[in-house]
Amino acid sequence: MKTTLPSGKAPHLDTARLYWVRPETFIETPAALALLTADERAQHQRFIPPGKRREYLVARVLARTVLGNALNCAPESVHFTTNPWGRPEVEGLHFNLTHTDGLVTLLLSEHHEVGVDTELLTRAPKLLELGPNVFAPNELKDLTALPADRRAQRAVTLWTLKESYIKARGMGLALALDGFAFRFTAEGLQLEVEPGLNDDGARWQFQTLTFGPHLISTAIHHPPGDPVTLELLEARL
Ligand SMILES: CC(C)(COP(=O)(O)OP(=O)(O)OC[C@H]1O[C@@H](n2cnc3c(N)ncnc32)[C@H](O)[C@@H]1OP(=O)(O)O)[C@@H](O)C(=O)NCCC(=O)NCCS
Repeated sequence: MKTTLPSGKAPHLDTARLYWVRPETFIETPAALALLTADERAQHQRFIPPGKRREYLVARVLARTVLGNALNCAPESVHFTTNPWGRPEVEGLHFNLTHTDGLVTLLLSEHHEVGVDTELLTRAPKLLELGPNVFAPNELKDLTALPADRRAQRAVTLWTLKESYIKARGMGLALALDGFAFRFTAEGLQLEVEPGLNDDGARWQFQTLTFGPHLISTAIHHPPGDPVTLELLEARL
């Protein structure tokens, strides 16, 4: 299997790496399937839509290839555990995966807790319809105040930021979506967190990238004043 991933125990201290793959470019081979555990192969077989099945396989191969490379071990011997909220984890590194129609990405950091989320921009109408079920009151207020032609982009930006945060916290939807709000202020993006969620919004670094028809948002936990560089890398699996 050909890979262009940088090798060795990387990334170093202040770099996080965002690896991306367009799943339609991935060719399913026996060698790729052989990287999966028996459980993963069974799960792969359970997906009926071919696109979802391919997405699942690409995500597994991407995770095993990137993490094996960073840990200096064979991809098939990377050992995953699962936190109480279902997040896959490996010892010695922080990573998070996201996949949706047409894009699979993995965010990797040696030292910082990370979360990543991607969505198609065409998801905007659904998100705006869900309104208070997915956004905090201040986010809704800001959305409503925007000119109509900017609401779609803002809705998907907010949603991917929110998902990147709940994924970096490792809790997924166990974190109340209305308990924290992203605000676009003159000083930049700010995260307001309710005291009950036991966090300091200033200790996070967020970025949103437009990537063809998708948005990708990343959340990186880092000490204030010590920004982490985000490297974007195409993974050729
Ligand atoms: C896991 C969760 C946080 C993200 O799910 P998602 O946005 O559907 O899917 P993503 O592709 O972004 O992320 C899935 C990956 O996150 C990882 N993950 C699973 N549980 C996680 C958790 N608790 N914390 C962080 N990451 C987690 C897994 O690697 C998973 O991929 P895998 O199942 O192939 O291993 C999920 O609980 C969630 O938020 N679902 C929201 C779905 C929703 O309500 N959509 C409506 C909006 S239109």
